[in-house]
Amino acid sequence: MIVRDLEWGDFTPIVENFLALYDEVVENPDLGISLFPKRPSWGEEAEWFAGLYRRVLEGSTVAAVAVEEGRVVGLCTADRRKPARETEHIGVVGLLVAQPWRGRGIGKSLLGRVIERSRGRFEILELSVFHSNTKARGLYQSLGFRPWGLFPGGILRDGRRTDLEYMSLELGPVPRP
Ligand SMILES: CC(C)(COP(=O)(O)OP(=O)(O)OC[C@H]1O[C@@H](n2cnc3c(N)ncnc32)[C@H](O)[C@@H]1OP(=O)(O)O)[C@@H](O)C(=O)NCCC(=O)NCCS
Repeated sequence: MIVRDLEWGDFTPIVENFLALYDEVVENPDLGISLFPKRPSWGEEAEWFAGLYRRVLEGSTVAAVAVEEGRVVGLCTADRRKPARETEHIGVVGLLVAQPWRGRGIGKSLLGRVIERSRGRFEILELSVFHSNTKARGLYQSLGFRPWGLFPGGILRDGRRTDLEYMSLELGPVPRP
């Protein structure tokens, strides 16, 4: 496995991995990640990816991908929390590993790299996770994230509620110019 920074050419596999979640959730209603109400179009995904890549170039987002057998199979990002000036010390984490490649340490490697790259850029990393997503919660805790709150019933899927857990990781102060 190779873990490296995001590149412009990663667009197609990253979008394929994301759109596959819309099929996966049909098979597995317990899939522990929230989705848009409607499957996004490739055009919408192109706009999203262009924005992501711009933020990486500007330095307001950290993004790492995992490559297996020449294909991008995972993405982890930490995006500066906007729009308030007072929350710009926070990076919001997102993580996705394509289904066939889960459970092999890829998610852990990706998040580990994003944490290291976030030092000196963000003071705190934060994320929210379905409380039912035991695997993801275990992974986050193993890398130092600590739960600080639970939103009871914060997720509603197929008429069934799930709690949403909030976690954060303290990285320490960022020197200001
Ligand atoms: C959650 C996800 C990103 C994890 O990626 P992954 O590559 O499968 O995870 P890894 O193989 O790196 O997991 C390793 C860690 O997960 C944790 N873990 C794995 N299975 C676990 C379980 N059944 N219970 C508790 N912790 C578990 C452990 O901490 C493990 O670390 P270890 O190997 O040192 O024991 C991936 O499963 C995924 O993309 N799922 C669908 C989307 C999603 O849920 N994203 C997260 C949204 S918040």
